[in-house]
Amino acid sequence: MSENYDFKTHWDIAYLKNSIEDLGWYEDDPVVSLDLINKCNLSRNSMIFHAGAGATKLIQKLKDDEYSNICVNDISKSAIDKLKSSINNIDGLSFVVDDLTNPKDLLNLEMVDLWHDRAVLHFFVQQSQQDAYFNLLKRKVKDGGYVIFSEFAIDGAKKCCGLDILNYSDEMFQERLGDDFELLESFKHLYKHPSNGNTRKYIYSLFKRKQ
Ligand SMILES: C[S@@+](CC[C@H](N)C(=O)[O-])C[C@H]1O[C@@H](n2cnc3c(N)ncnc32)[C@H](O)[C@@H]1O
Repeated sequence: MSENYDFKTHWDIAYLKNSIEDLGWYEDDPVVSLDLINKCNLSRNSMIFHAGAGATKLIQKLKDDEYSNICVNDISKSAIDKLKSSINNIDGLSFVVDDLTNPKDLLNLEMVDLWHDRAVLHFFVQQSQQDAYFNLLKRKVKDGGYVIFSEFAIDGAKKCCGLDILNYSDEMFQERLGDDFELLESFKHLYKHPSNGNTRKYIYSLFKRKQ
C-alpha cells in the first residue's frame, strides 16, 4: 500500500457499504475490553480516549457503566455517524474525526487517563505512521494513566478489511512505548464473529504509565 493511499476513503466505504454487525471485527458484547478497563479502577469522570473506535458497542457499555468523559476518535466520519446513531444519547461523549498518524485536532485533546485501541494500531505498517501514533500517545497519556492495546497476535491473520497489518507481541508494544510504561497484564484471545463464526487471534495488553 503506497504512502499516498487514501485510508480515510477506504474506511468511509467500509462503514457505508456494510452494516455494523457484518464488519469482520464486530462484537455484540466487548466484554474483554470492558474487563480490562474495569481493572484500571478509574473514577467515573476519568478521561477515556478511544483511538479508532469505529462503531463499537463498547461506548454504549461504558455509558451504561456511567463513565462520563469519553472521547471517541476515528478517521472515518461515516463510522462516527453510525456510532452516534447506535447509542441512546451522546451526553458525556466528545467526537474527533482525525487521523492518528497525522493528527491535527487530536493535538488539542486533553490529557487522558486511559487510551484504548482495539484493531487500529496494527494497520500502521509504515514506520512514519507508528512514530506519529506513539508520539501522540506519549504526549497525551497522563502519568499513572493506562493504555490498552488489542491487536492481531503474532500468529494471527496478516490482513484486515483488505489492508496489510502488522502482527503484535508484548515485546513490540513495550519497545514502542519505552521504559515509562509497565506491562500489567497480557493474554491471547480468540475472537469469534457473532454471526458468521469467523475467528481471529488477538493479543490484549494493559500497560500503566509510571508516575
Ligand atoms: C478494525 S476497525 C476497529 C474498530 C473498533 N476499534 C472496534 O474494535 O470495533 C479499525 C478502525 O480504525 C479506524 N482507523 C483506521 N485508520 C485510522 C487512523 N489513521 N486514524 C484514526 N482511525 C483510524 C477505522 O476507521 C476503523 O474504524
